[in-house]
Amino acid sequence: MKILVTGGCGFLGTNLCLHFARAGHEVAAYDNLAKLEFERNPLLPPEARFANLRLLEEAGVAVIQADVRDLAALSDAASGCGYICHTAAQAAMTISWEDPLLDFSVNAAGSVNALEAARRHNIPIALCSTIHTFGPDNIHASMREEGGRYVRTPPGITEDEPRLAGAVTPLRASKRAVEIYTRCYIDTYTAKAACFTLTGLYGPLQYGGEDHGWLANFAIRALLGKPITIFGNGRQTRDMLFVSDAVAAFEKFLQNPVPGLYNLGAGERAAISLNQAVALLSDVLGREVAVEYKPDRFGDLKYFVTDYSRFHKACGWSPEVLPAEGVPLLVEWAKEALSP
Ligand SMILES: NC(=O)c1ccc[n+]([C@@H]2O[C@H](COP(=O)([O-])OP(=O)(O)OC[C@H]3O[C@@H](n4cnc5c(N)ncnc54)[C@H](O)[C@@H]3O)[C@@H](O)[C@H]2O)c1
Repeated sequence: MKILVTGGCGFLGTNLCLHFARAGHEVAAYDNLAKLEFERNPLLPPEARFANLRLLEEAGVAVIQADVRDLAALSDAASGCGYICHTAAQAAMTISWEDPLLDFSVNAAGSVNALEAARRHNIPIALCSTIHTFGPDNIHASMREEGGRYVRTPPGITEDEPRLAGAVTPLRASKRAVEIYTRCYIDTYTAKAACFTLTGLYGPLQYGGEDHGWLANFAIRALLGKPITIFGNGRQTRDMLFVSDAVAAFEKFLQNPVPGLYNLGAGERAAISLNQAVALLSDVLGREVAVEYKPDRFGDLKYFVTDYSRFHKACGWSPEVLPAEGVPLLVEWAKEALSP
């Protein structure tokens, strides 16, 4: 099958492309190579910006350098495909405050273009939202501190939790639009579409910065001997989803495309605070990792643990990798990626 992966040169996108190419599919990565966050991350060597692109070329993945805001180009690229994985995005909360129009056009309009391309060619499509569409006020009001991190009863947050409760930042608004338009295409056009509301992702090929991809950013800083910056007290908690489990979710939806909006995360077993992540990294590296604490950032969500049972029931997916297994794999990759 021919599969189109928008954002195919990004972290999740490259992992998807390589997985599907290895499984024998014909894969095209559609990406404008904007990679805005690289410009803000002086720690990364300049060649890192194109490292994923090189991996794709070596694996025989076709790379289409184009923008998801260009419907004609996107629809052209989708022609003849059997599946669209739409991962292209402006994913950083910080960039969304600074440039709300860019955030809107890439995330909201770009995702409607992806849905429209899928509709025109009658192709199943999976899109990405973020847990930032939830809360924060209801989530912050229901959590408490226990054992040095935030917890909640019940721990898992379902799709029915109120959305946009509290300050609405541009990223929250634009990603909520992705969820609403997915629903709109399902209801109006019977699209075979899924929108994954994703918790924090991590794993190989993630050139994380302070704006996006915090666990990889922690690993990269620790390996370079630079202190890690934590915004807030470090008790913020996430159920971190290893990238191979996220890739498996896209594959499950292709095998059994039950349309819907799905929370996707690794659940309570994988819940970890920022301070616990630092401790885990120190264990993996065999040395103490230095941390600098700075004030909370506007819009940060202090707690999220996913109840993924809706997607489990619909498509039979379950996460497998826990942070104790995934973090050493992330560190192994980052060591290699940073070596000259
Ligand atoms: N990484 C996480 O922790 C996380 C958490 C929640 C949700 N998500 C969502 O998952 C998806 C993938 O995230 P990621 O971490 O792989 O992001 P990423 O930034 O690594 O990749 C995004 C890719 O999209 C490309 N892109 C940006 N604007 C584009 C445009 N206008 N046209 C074409 N390509 C464009 C970029 O060049 C980049 O290669 C995003 O939708 C993101 O919001 C990620």
